[in-house]
Amino acid sequence: MSNIKTPKKLIEVALPLDDINEAAAHEKQPGIGAHPRGLHLWWARRPLAAARAVIFAQMVNDPGFERHLGRGINKKDAQVERERLFGILRKLVVWENTNNQSVLEEARAEIWKSWRETCALNKNHPDAATMFNPEKLPAFHDPFAGGGALPLEAQRLGLESYASDLNPVAVLINKAMIEIPPKFAGRAPIGPLPPATGKKDATRNAFDDWSGARGLAEDVRRYGYWMREEAFKRIGHLYPKVDLTTGKPIPHGAGNQANEATVIAWIWVRTVKSPNPAFSHVDVPLASTFILSSKAGKECYVEPIIGGDSYYFEVRNGKPPERAKAGTTAGKRNAFLCLLSGVAIDYNYIRAEGKAGRMGQNLMAIIAEGSRGRVYLAPTHEMEAVANQAQPAWQPETQLPDNPRDFKTPNYGMTSFGDLFTPRQLVALTTFSDLVQIAREKIKADALTAGIIDDGQGLNDGGTGATAYADAVAVYLAFAIDRLADYGSSIATWKPSGEQVMQTFKRQALPITWDFPESNFFAGKSICWENAVKYSSDNLVASSSYESVFSGQVFQADAQRQNISMSKVISTDPPYYDNIGYADLSDFFYVWLRRSLRPIYPALFATMAVPKAEELVATPYRHGSKEKAEQFFLNGMTAAMHRLAEQAHPVFPTTIYYAFKQSDTTDVGTGNTGWETFLEAVLKAGFTITGTWPMRTELANRMIGSGTNALASSIVLVCRPREANAATISRREFIKELKQELSEAIDVMIGGAEGVSPVAPPLRQNS
Ligand SMILES: C[S@@+](CC[C@H](N)C(=O)[O-])C[C@H]1O[C@@H](n2cnc3c(N)ncnc32)[C@H](O)[C@@H]1O
Repeated sequence: MSNIKTPKKLIEVALPLDDINEAAAHEKQPGIGAHPRGLHLWWARRPLAAARAVIFAQMVNDPGFERHLGRGINKKDAQVERERLFGILRKLVVWENTNNQSVLEEARAEIWKSWRETCALNKNHPDAATMFNPEKLPAFHDPFAGGGALPLEAQRLGLESYASDLNPVAVLINKAMIEIPPKFAGRAPIGPLPPATGKKDATRNAFDDWSGARGLAEDVRRYGYWMREEAFKRIGHLYPKVDLTTGKPIPHGAGNQANEATVIAWIWVRTVKSPNPAFSHVDVPLASTFILSSKAGKECYVEPIIGGDSYYFEVRNGKPPERAKAGTTAGKRNAFLCLLSGVAIDYNYIRAEGKAGRMGQNLMAIIAEGSRGRVYLAPTHEMEAVANQAQPAWQPETQLPDNPRDFKTPNYGMTSFGDLFTPRQLVALTTFSDLVQIAREKIKADALTAGIIDDGQGLNDGGTGATAYADAVAVYLAFAIDRLADYGSSIATWKPSGEQVMQTFKRQALPITWDFPESNFFAGKSICWENAVKYSSDNLVASSSYESVFSGQVFQADAQRQNISMSKVISTDPPYYDNIGYADLSDFFYVWLRRSLRPIYPALFATMAVPKAEELVATPYRHGSKEKAEQFFLNGMTAAMHRLAEQAHPVFPTTIYYAFKQSDTTDVGTGNTGWETFLEAVLKAGFTITGTWPMRTELANRMIGSGTNALASSIVLVCRPREANAATISRREFIKELKQELSEAIDVMIGGAEGVSPVAPPLRQNS
């Protein structure tokens, strides 16, 4: 391969870093509208802007003069030309330009121009016909694709895009982003429009045209509506309206009542038997707070009323007394206080009660939609009784891992994924899951009626006809179920300052909650099926580039063994040492996806739980000890990197993101950090690092495991396979040097920098 002429790429020379980082930070802000990340939750996603910029700069030739290749222009002109390329990059990373076709076309043209120059340089190469075809761009591959940011951006830039991941949930997310939409691009929807119900959105088309994935997204919405109606017939009785004067349920079909309102959510509080022998027959509440709303002018709180050996909850409007904030908590050590006697309830006691199956839950408040916003009502026995009618026919039995760092509920006896849901939540999620397969049959029949030819092949077999189309809609409907699960488990929380439900995965862990909202999935407001479907549909449109013409292929593959990278351009983002246990976390979703979609993807969902053994995460609890975990990570990552060094297309550098925390530069010499082990793997695998770019890929204020693993940003390593005769320095020396340089680079990043050069130690590294 050494006789291949490989012009330097822009990313190996200079980048407008400040613009990229600014765009990346902007994209992480909430409230920027539909975004591909909304399709399905994944942990530690890279910003699209950074992914787009990196892939562009890795594909475009630097204009500088390279004597040995006889290409490029003089220093001064090269600077002007670089500035022109920066101009393209600056436009390319702007969030509002994500699907701006003229901006994308300009970038694609530049990629093609560089490719043609490279082909011309190599036209006499013996394999030029296959390797350097000026009419065919090399394809892209990300072997740790996760939430799909990198493969999606490669596709947007006009490359045929390949994604793989070990995790079936990640594989499905990538399919939903880059593989499925192009198959059905530009098709009109086939589903029946929802009947006029007085609700504007339900009856109208959501889009003005059927370009890109809009037709598919509209069908997700239409069949989502159908599923809602079917589900309501089956389980609507579990979700009654409420009488605003009494707090009692009003069954559906009871006709319009003067004081009726839609319930948004029921607030539950977990309970244990009082440890005080005098009250040991009473279930006392473990309330983290009694505040329901802390919005100025709309304050509302729960007031527990005690009488002898019993209590009940009232709900009061107005400024809450100071004590309401703390609920029944007692500070760190004691956890809670018995509401009746003030006796301390410590964590050990709660754990023992939970494990003995004596942790219960009481209704603490009802949140309804009044004519002027949220109304908070005191709980009633009748409302509790409705919830108690729910009898789930199924629940996920998969066990949570024995990983006390990130999974807290097993300590309290909630050991299976099914334990994280109330019976009513289980009934609802199971009902929607059953309906996915029924909807799939209906969609196929409707598609045939609409004249779509059926090749009898499902998505899994590469079909594009009626069967595959039904499969496709079903995938996005199943994603809506996962969204409901995320916001509709008993690990979700209520945020009084925003009067809103917060998701289960506020961070990459499953904590315990003491009080939680149980949303009305049929409310048509807040956390409900209708909104989950809308979210799925809107984000599908946001995910697929406007025309969705560039194809994508997604596989389940272990990065240590894959052959997909052969002759492809690679940009990837491997797991950061022990930071996120993707496989363990994603079981939360896998159990529901498997239930809904196994007939569509039988191989992907063959196992009861997400495969864990090959996951490249250094988790001591899985490998027996810290040392064994580190060794596993080093060996596995070296094998994975080796696959890349061997297979990557020879003219493009490989780019590798690695999450980075400030302490990584400061704790020099304090043993092996994730970084050291990772770098060792990269170097051992036969790569040399030609540049390192600090990227701001995480929100600075992100809520992560009590600061211990704060991911401030990423470093993008630009790598080339090492020449056999390359000069070397020791690994230790290299890491020391890199850390020093990174430290400065981070300062530069924080201070802002225009068009700076990459930070890289001299090109003489060994393992
Ligand atoms: C940092 S994440 C990728 C995130 C992605 N770039 C994004 O923006 O969403 C790393 C991924 O590596 C995957 N992974 C872990 N071990 C793997 C293995 N042995 N083979 C393939 N993928 C693996 C995890 O499932 C996870 O999705």
